[in-house]
Amino acid sequence: MKSHLLSAADLTHEDALLVLDTAEELARLADRPIKKLPTLRGRTVVNLFFEDSTRTRISFEAAAKRLSADVINFSAKGSSVAKGESLKDTALTLEAMGADAVVVRHHASGAPHRLAHSGWIRGAVVNAGDGTHEHPTQALLDAFTMRRRLNAGPGEHQATVGTDLAGRRVTIVGDVLHSRVARSNVLLLHTLGAEVTLVAPPTLFPVGVDAWPCVTSYDLDGELAKSDVVMMLRVQRERMAPAGGGFFPSAREYSRRYGLDGRRMAMLPDHAIVMHPGPMNRGMEIAAEVADSARSTIVEQVTNGVSVRMAVLYLLLSGASEGESA
Ligand code: CP
Repeated sequence: MKSHLLSAADLTHEDALLVLDTAEELARLADRPIKKLPTLRGRTVVNLFFEDSTRTRISFEAAAKRLSADVINFSAKGSSVAKGESLKDTALTLEAMGADAVVVRHHASGAPHRLAHSGWIRGAVVNAGDGTHEHPTQALLDAFTMRRRLNAGPGEHQATVGTDLAGRRVTIVGDVLHSRVARSNVLLLHTLGAEVTLVAPPTLFPVGVDAWPCVTSYDLDGELAKSDVVMMLRVQRERMAPAGGGFFPSAREYSRRYGLDGRRMAMLPDHAIVMHPGPMNRGMEIAAEVADSARSTIVEQVTNGVSVRMAVLYLLLSGASEGESA
């Protein structure tokens, strides 16, 4: 592996399987009474969050603590960033405190890349979501969840070790334009051999999507019967200014064309699963009856996020990564 995880494109097929297989080993820890390993004792992981997060921040904290690392949680709200302190000076402060790894979420696309290659920080940088660009650990936990659900029977998780997602059909639906989850998933799923279709209204596809390793469609109903996985994306209204931004006529119209409700869920093959990275707009991109159904992996994705992030921290900090910068 490279020495930072900035993009899902940083991962070769071999790297991706190494993370997923390591996560599968580490997931066994969750069944033990003491869910802790001494692996990263004496190492410091800083969670540097300039943007709101529930799942990612908490699961990176849990992951680092389960590996016995010291954890410093930094939130821009309530810090000197609010007084105008720059990313550089924040980074130099963290470096002075001896950060071995910095997990960064930032509203600016490219901020983790800047941190990793600026020389301000010597430790490993992990992208925990940058603007509308990438969210590679979300893609890894999504792939881990797909592998478990599609490649093994219940309770046979070890049977997934060494397997990829070759030939699996994944349909990703919704606000692709603002989604770092969509881009990272397309890149990683392609590496793992899956066939990805993006479905969105024309206004919610980014410029250049034709160059991504996937196909695109405006017709959700036409994709459902051939999907092994349907991944619903959150409509990111906070990135649409002014409110709604003219990307679609109304929430009701969006829901009617691109929402996953019970009727559409019934069009999926019996084995197909429904995913969502969270947080959800229940009733908009996904109906409550779908989110809470047996096909939904939404809560499982959160659980799996801890194992996957443990694997990423372990591989980056325990010497399994290459010596040079990414
Ligand atoms: N999926 C995800 O990144 O969720 P949070 O914004 O809560 O971290």
